Amino acid sequence: MTELTEPEVKLEALLGIINSSARQAIAEYKKTGHGVPSADATTFHPLDMATDTLALRKATRLLEGAYHQLSAILAPPQHTVMNFVFDYNWACTDVALRARFADVLEQHPEGLSVDKLAEAVNLDKSKTARVLRALSLMGCFKEVERDVFTNTRLSLILKSTNNTGCYAQTHSRDVSKYAGVLYETMTDQEFSRSHEVEKAPRVFACRKEGTEESFWDMMKKDDERRDIFHRGMLGYSEMTGTSTFLHQYHWDNNTNHDLPEVMVQAQNAWEKDAPDALFDGRVELVPNNFLEDIPAAGKDVYYLRHILHDWPDAEATMILRNVRKAMGPNSVVLIRPYLALDDCILLHTFQEPGVGTTEGLSIDPQAPEPMLPNFGAGSHGVYQIDLTMWFLVNAKERTLDEMKIIAQVPYNSSLTRRATAGLALTQVYDLVETMVMEFRIA
Ligand SMILES: C[S@@+](CC[C@H](N)C(=O)[O-])C[C@H]1O[C@@H](n2cnc3c(N)ncnc32)[C@H](O)[C@@H]1O
Repeated sequence: MTELTEPEVKLEALLGIINSSARQAIAEYKKTGHGVPSADATTFHPLDMATDTLALRKATRLLEGAYHQLSAILAPPQHTVMNFVFDYNWACTDVALRARFADVLEQHPEGLSVDKLAEAVNLDKSKTARVLRALSLMGCFKEVERDVFTNTRLSLILKSTNNTGCYAQTHSRDVSKYAGVLYETMTDQEFSRSHEVEKAPRVFACRKEGTEESFWDMMKKDDERRDIFHRGMLGYSEMTGTSTFLHQYHWDNNTNHDLPEVMVQAQNAWEKDAPDALFDGRVELVPNNFLEDIPAAGKDVYYLRHILHDWPDAEATMILRNVRKAMGPNSVVLIRPYLALDDCILLHTFQEPGVGTTEGLSIDPQAPEPMLPNFGAGSHGVYQIDLTMWFLVNAKERTLDEMKIIAQVPYNSSLTRRATAGLALTQVYDLVETMVMEFRIA
């Protein structure tokens, strides 16, 4: 038998990872007692609605990372690179979301002709069919007879009632416009070297259209966008299993902070979903501007989810400093950014001494050889969110080291430009798409 060459050994190893991670995913579905999802499924699998899907998401990260690496080695490079730009799924998804294809198809489980669907959503028939066919390639909608479509397990995410669909829409609707001016902003004299919120690609694109207001001011004025944005945030929690993690903490005496217009929405949501918590005083809703202060003083836990990644370093530091001011001596600070790191630094930071594991939420040491150490395309979403933050508000995801730097400078130091919050990183929880980092007063 001839010996395998080194490249062949790597290909075999990637095939092995694909095989074993797919089997892990299959086992997770089977554990529910409902078998694996069918390719023709038109309803959700019970695991799709589960709150704890960490094991499945870890298997998916390996599967996608190994698969893309294998394909990039074996496919012609021309093909792979063209795939980077031949990707208008976001535009087709945007149409399906905003025209509510999935809502209409849900009334017709046996299938609906394109003509009738197009009529129901008031769009051109042949264009509607092209959008549906492009998405059907990916398993989102299905052509059951010629020109007759049904929903699938994937297209159900696009229903107007689905929070993850809202999360998708916050990206598909506007961010593409800002991404489209990226090169211009990187070469424009005024924008190219700036890391200020006011010099984000979004501002550049809006100026072209004759408008200029901050992202949060735009949200304030636009009730529909704001509603979709905040339901999208719920969708993101569902997708990443945040609530499972949060159950480790006690939330009896809870102060919810956000901008005043968002507190109105929060009040409605609490009244609808958990009125007792509100009326028993277990939850208090207090509007604030975290760039100025954090009114809830001396709490045990400060939970900042998807906050710091919305801000460049100067503002992120200011927010941390305000949290630090509000904290009592035993407080813990949790910061919940998405993770988007240089792959080498990511490896290094995972192995920091003192950053260990915790019950049920261990940190993966690193991706197995020969995968890229940061799981490669298995971390696709994280790196896309980093770009989204740049396009929208000139902000970013940070490496663990960057996060430590903005948090660590002692609170009592003179407030120079580099002064920060005086917090030390004590624990990290890897939730695949996000990481929860626990900081204590240094
Ligand atoms: C990415 S969202 C995350 C929301 C929520 N923490 C979650 O995870 O669902 C960022 C939040 O910051 C709020 N925000 C923006 N500027 C703020 C400010 N100056 N003071 C307080 N909240 C602010 C926004 O209204 C928005 O709800």
